[in-house]
Amino acid sequence: MTTPSLLILPGDGIGPEVMAEVRRIIDWFGAERGLNFDVSEDLVGGCAYDKHGTPLHDDTMARAQEVDAVLLGAVGGPQYDALDFSVKPERGLLRLRKEMDLFSNLRPAQCFDALSDFSSLKKDVVAGLDIMIVRELTSGVYFGEPRGIFTEGNERVGINTQRYTESEIARVARSAFELAMKRDKKLCSMEKANVMESGILWREVVTEVGRDYPEVELSHMYADAGAMQLTRWPKQFDVIVTDNLFGDLLSDLAAMLTGSLGMLPSASLGAPMENGRPKALYEPVHGSAPDIAGQGKANPIACILSFAMALRYSFDQGDEATRLEAAIERVLADGVRTADLMGPEGGTPVSTSGMGDAILSALDTSL
Ligand code: IPM
Ligand code: MG
Repeated sequence: MTTPSLLILPGDGIGPEVMAEVRRIIDWFGAERGLNFDVSEDLVGGCAYDKHGTPLHDDTMARAQEVDAVLLGAVGGPQYDALDFSVKPERGLLRLRKEMDLFSNLRPAQCFDALSDFSSLKKDVVAGLDIMIVRELTSGVYFGEPRGIFTEGNERVGINTQRYTESEIARVARSAFELAMKRDKKLCSMEKANVMESGILWREVVTEVGRDYPEVELSHMYADAGAMQLTRWPKQFDVIVTDNLFGDLLSDLAAMLTGSLGMLPSASLGAPMENGRPKALYEPVHGSAPDIAGQGKANPIACILSFAMALRYSFDQGDEATRLEAAIERVLADGVRTADLMGPEGGTPVSTSGMGDAILSALDTSL
């Protein structure tokens, strides 16, 4: 069997320092579990713009299409705010998603026991929370045409288009139903069918796909009501499927329910490749946090958990993913805390690499 390949794109801000900890974890799995990866590293975002004048070089794009999985840190920073829209760091990320056709974006929102005091909501509302948002990632208003800023008469008009084909809705719906089958068999689809035709079609197609999954309890909610229900009683949900823009908003909301944005990973999956693995990109939900970049303050857990998702969804190593997740739970239960996790009850303050050390020694103990 050939060694699976992994392209690492640390990106900007805290991306490189959290990714450095992931590299140590990857090395641990190689040394201790015989899981070896052919790892290569490249630029994306502002750092790619600085070097090549584009946030994603064509060679990097081509490499991303070849590898078994891409692991990305974060992109962006204030020094790039004034750049033309077409070369902003985020465009590099959007190009990867679009050209790899990563239509199904899995964003778990899980509340770690040791951190249930961190939520802005009451502890009993979030304790034990474990939901999964499946966000459509390659279509909708993010990519629909026409788009642009045009002149009409004597004023300008900004236009974006919400557009979904049946097949685009059906494939993301199917991925959400498949996931629901492996979890609590509950799926809630969110759109605005009361206002938008694309929402009416969304609801119809999700319902049709649902006929293939009679065991899954399917419900529909308007996305605004969904936002309200997510803050009122989030534990009513298991899997949520929604479009690109609503998914962007709702996943930030869901992430913050857990109180720790620095903890949440994501997976963006496409169609299966020849070897049966889905095209895949894994990245933390958090951004590049330029205010703390380079200071060793960043929490590497979201990025490490993104690698755990890669083990599970790309490399069929669910048990090893669980081992890594359990090591992180143990470290948190022991009170090891990066700055973002330091609450009133205190704990042992650690730097980014200190958190890496703690997770590595918890992994050692797991053997
Ligand atoms: C996200 C981010 C991106 C998005 C940005 C950085 C383009 O907010 O992944 O949620 O809007 O999709
Ligand atoms: Mg977002």
